[in-house]
Amino acid sequence: MLRSLLAACMVLVALGHSPAFAQTPHRHDHGFSGAEQWARHFDDPARDAWQRPHQVIQALALAPNAAVADIGAGTGYFAVRLAHMTPQGRVYAVDTEPDMVRYLAERAKREGLANLIAVAGTPRDPRLPEKVDRVLFVDVYHHIGDREPYFRALRERLKPGGEVAIIDFTRASPIGPPVSARVTPEQVRDEMQRAGYALVRSPDFLPNQFFLVFRAQ
Ligand SMILES: C[S@@+](CC[C@H](N)C(=O)[O-])C[C@H]1O[C@@H](n2cnc3c(N)ncnc32)[C@H](O)[C@@H]1O
Repeated sequence: MLRSLLAACMVLVALGHSPAFAQTPHRHDHGFSGAEQWARHFDDPARDAWQRPHQVIQALALAPNAAVADIGAGTGYFAVRLAHMTPQGRVYAVDTEPDMVRYLAERAKREGLANLIAVAGTPRDPRLPEKVDRVLFVDVYHHIGDREPYFRALRERLKPGGEVAIIDFTRASPIGPPVSARVTPEQVRDEMQRAGYALVRSPDFLPNQFFLVFRAQ
């Protein structure tokens, strides 16, 4: 446990953040409470340089009326941008951490984003209220426990032509969770194939993360 905490602290120090709110990112059951503190980390403007959010969103090829799910939305780094890009659509910002859901709902209200809806998901079910055109997972895939049934069930929540985009840290990335917690793109592709998906594209412009886009077969 102590070694885990030290590893997590080193990651946060590498990211230029205080280890005071260190997590243990290689475990699937650690909490993300304290959303205001996490917001400083997730929504740090310096992140844009390597996260390239506008390029990511462009690569999702969203219609202005698309229904989108950002699963593991955290404090809304992507969900808020997605809501701006789909003014006639809906963005479901799903998280399993109640404090993140509270923060997302407050942020949507504060920023006047009526099309951004915070959703309390469970580890087994994102509880999407409707079928969606796109599902985005950013730095979340490695937190999901029983992935095959999770993603198999998610197929039923996709509209025809719907896509699931998975972005997560590569093993070579100088930032991210401990290397032992990371998944490889090959592992994701194999697991997603077993869950009934085919890889349709893999944009390669992100310096620290792989980006894989799947469709249900
Ligand atoms: C590393 S943060 C990423 C946040 C956000 N996607 C971003 O890029 O800023 C991971 C988030 O996923 C949430 N999470 C973990 N497991 C989840 C699951 N099974 N379903 C939905 N959210 C989950 C956590 O509570 C946390 O807010």
